[in-house]
Amino acid sequence: MTSQPLNSEQQQLLDDLLAPQKSISSAWLYDQRGSQLFDQITRLKEYYPTRTEIGILTAHRSDIAEMTGEKASIIEFGSGSSEKIRILLRCLNLPAVYVPVDISAEHLELAAAGIRDDFPDLEVIPVVANFTQEFDLPEPVVMPEKNLVFFPGSTIGNFRPDEARELLKVMAVEAGKGGSLLIGVDLVKDPGTLELAYNDQSGVTAAFNLNILEHLNRVHGSDFRIDQFGHHAFFNATHHRIEMHLISLIDQTVTLLGQTIVINQDETILTEYSHKYSIDDFVVMVESTGFVSRAVWTDEDQLFSVHYFDRADSDFFSATLL
Ligand code: AVJ
Repeated sequence: MTSQPLNSEQQQLLDDLLAPQKSISSAWLYDQRGSQLFDQITRLKEYYPTRTEIGILTAHRSDIAEMTGEKASIIEFGSGSSEKIRILLRCLNLPAVYVPVDISAEHLELAAAGIRDDFPDLEVIPVVANFTQEFDLPEPVVMPEKNLVFFPGSTIGNFRPDEARELLKVMAVEAGKGGSLLIGVDLVKDPGTLELAYNDQSGVTAAFNLNILEHLNRVHGSDFRIDQFGHHAFFNATHHRIEMHLISLIDQTVTLLGQTIVINQDETILTEYSHKYSIDDFVVMVESTGFVSRAVWTDEDQLFSVHYFDRADSDFFSATLL
């Protein structure tokens, strides 16, 4: 077989699988089947974050509307949360524009079309971008009074704290002077509850995790045998995070992009981090990136929190501090 030169994404994939702790980027979890399985996860009784966050957003929608004011530009980082963005758009007074930002053009167009159907008077301008890097905002017809960055789902937890801070700095740039951030985060709680949420009885999360290998096989022609791996998700108390791994059930070799990867029995491949925060630690982290906390809402069991931050240099706070 003649070897083809690899592009940087392919090289990264191989490097990650040849490292001492093997890993596959979580981005590979979300092909069509992966997105469907994730959707199923959000409805599992064990998976409390989605319904809890929706409950919090719904309970505090009038506060959110008041803090946001009229003619806001809503910039959603990612475009997966159709139910949540609808709650937000429904509660706001005359939003100027909705700007979903996503790396997948296909996913983005589908989400945008759905919002246009439900909000015919709202301008919707999707932006195809990797939102971990700064990107240019579109110019809407109605000049926005302010920008509100929306990042629900505790997706911030998928990033290591150092990466999360970099992302928050991008959000501060995109929010702009006078802008705000509405963000959801899953809270540290007893490990039993956390671990159950990622080890459901019906095995949906296991299927979601294993599907990452099917996705790689389909796209890169690798020969991972799905039946030779198990789902392994646990709470790492040192780093306050759920780690999702695939564990090899046997000694095996896999071929990917012309490389042979040796995997020992019980060796794992990391597929996702999901960091959990205390409210205080989360506020400290976000405030270190140019925001100031304006409101924190949580459910009665303190499972999940939703935060409203203003840019630290916004008029509201300059006036308050004077
Ligand atoms: C959508 C990334 C926030 O980390 O809880 C759910 C993904 N992984 N079950 C999470 C997920 C396994 C979810 N996020």
